[in-house]
Amino acid sequence: MENVFENNRTAWNEALGYHQKARGDSLQSGFENPDFTTFDRDCDQMQLHKIEAFGLRDKTIGQLPCNNGRELLSLMRYLGARAAYGFDISDTAIDEAKQFAEISGLSAIFERINILEISDKYNEMFDFIYISEGSLQWFPDLSAYFAVVSRLLKTGGHILIYEIHPFAYFFETGYTLGEPDIEKIPSYFDREPHSYPHGLDYVGGTEYEASECFWYMHKMSDIINAVLKSGFDLLEFEEYNIEMANTEAAKATDKLPLSYIISGKKR
Ligand SMILES: C[S@@+](CC[C@H](N)C(=O)[O-])C[C@H]1O[C@@H](n2cnc3c(N)ncnc32)[C@H](O)[C@@H]1O
Repeated sequence: MENVFENNRTAWNEALGYHQKARGDSLQSGFENPDFTTFDRDCDQMQLHKIEAFGLRDKTIGQLPCNNGRELLSLMRYLGARAAYGFDISDTAIDEAKQFAEISGLSAIFERINILEISDKYNEMFDFIYISEGSLQWFPDLSAYFAVVSRLLKTGGHILIYEIHPFAYFFETGYTLGEPDIEKIPSYFDREPHSYPHGLDYVGGTEYEASECFWYMHKMSDIINAVLKSGFDLLEFEEYNIEMANTEAAKATDKLPLSYIISGKKR
């Protein structure tokens, strides 16, 4: 299993180089502006209002994984959180996150680590943990992942997951609506890992010969069960036709659920 995570670390370090090239210095110059946020899509207002309702002013928030910290920094500022911690396995992502924190003058802390190995020193420190698109697919065992989320949260702390719907992952392994070939759909029930041979540049769209990485399809029921069994009361589960992954799924918005929100409260 160590191999899975170390491979993914390498693949994400490589991907970040492409993301940085595509973005130029837009995030660096953005974070110089005190009003800057990366929650600038229409659908972000909906999630921001739900998160705001948890009452997080002066509280401690976290994001697992946080990539380059742009969402966590935007949230910290928007919510008026006192402290924010982001964790991610990618060296390049965490280096960039620290740079954005410095530019923005926000006191968020970023740590490079496999989520499954986050230190016990963070136990029960958090009022809120945010989990956003493209986060869960990297963890073969969701109970292990949500056990960490639960361990870090205070009793009464909240989670909000705004994620790509499992059905949208049908479009990640070559299935297209133009030439529908059911063989190309990853099984909804399969537990085997999948890869991204052409890379992870969802920012610039460059295809490259990528280092091998491993991602996993998770059924909606497995996600919900993992949340419930990790000690959360389910507050909300809603499915949307909002496409988040920049794939062919965008052509199926009137047919399929493409994203979802789950929120929960730690018992
Ligand atoms: C698509 S991003 C999701 C984060 C956020 N939604 C975003 O778009 O910035 C996926 C992130 O998961 C991280 N990641 C993958 N496996 C991980 C692991 N085992 N522990 C910590 N981070 C991991 C990658 O490094 C990458 O930054």
